[in-house]
Amino acid sequence: MQAQHQAQVQAQPASDSDVIRVLTSRRSVKSVVAPGPSRDQIELALEAAVRAPDHAALRVWRFAMIEQPDIVELGERAIEAVAKAGRPMAPEKQVKTREWLKGVPLLVAMAYQIHHDNPKVPELEQTLSMGAAVMNFQNAMHAMGYASFWSTGLGTFTEEVPTMLGFDTLDYRFVGFLAVGTPAFTPTPATRTPGKSILTRWTAPKA
Ligand SMILES: Cc1cc2nc3c(=O)[nH]c(=O)nc-3n(C[C@H](O)[C@H](O)[C@H](O)COP(=O)(O)O)c2cc1C
Repeated sequence: MQAQHQAQVQAQPASDSDVIRVLTSRRSVKSVVAPGPSRDQIELALEAAVRAPDHAALRVWRFAMIEQPDIVELGERAIEAVAKAGRPMAPEKQVKTREWLKGVPLLVAMAYQIHHDNPKVPELEQTLSMGAAVMNFQNAMHAMGYASFWSTGLGTFTEEVPTMLGFDTLDYRFVGFLAVGTPAFTPTPATRTPGKSILTRWTAPKA
């Protein structure tokens, strides 16, 4: 069984594959417009999301899709919620936010179900698994020609917004929104530090 599994893993695409090109070319684009992904494309990206590493198969990930005109409505409610929470959005920021949301064809609200006090999987692992799921979703969208932008604005850290979206804050940790669509402009390539700059080597101290 182990040998068979290894054979399958080794049969994956080579280093110059399309997959690697997708992974090394993604960048975030905030200004996204229609057309957004189809329902089939969203479901395909979710198939990528559920491939995130998942200790003890907790399946913590939750994604809620919001389309127009509900995106605009969500924006209004988020602006009210942050004001009520004592962190009002500056008027210029409100204008920009409304302008941005008007064009966004798909907003995905994301949370994970908290498994409190799991003896094998501390919450940090659940958080990381959710992050990995979001990343897979973003990369899948990128592979299909769409851009996305992860935001923890729009009242993410209020009680009201996650609750309104069906994510009771006692049971779910809300991790924000992805705006998904067609880039409003051709993005410049992402500049990054070379991958090798984040690598070190540990060697066992000589006795
Ligand atoms: C969990 C998380 C939350 C984020 N929230 C915001 C946000 O609220 N506002 C913002 O301008 N960027 C936010 N970002 C950053 C953008 O999504 C994006 O990563 C950043 O603009 C850099 O682009 P890049 O992904 O191409 O490097 C967030 C990123 C992460 C990982």
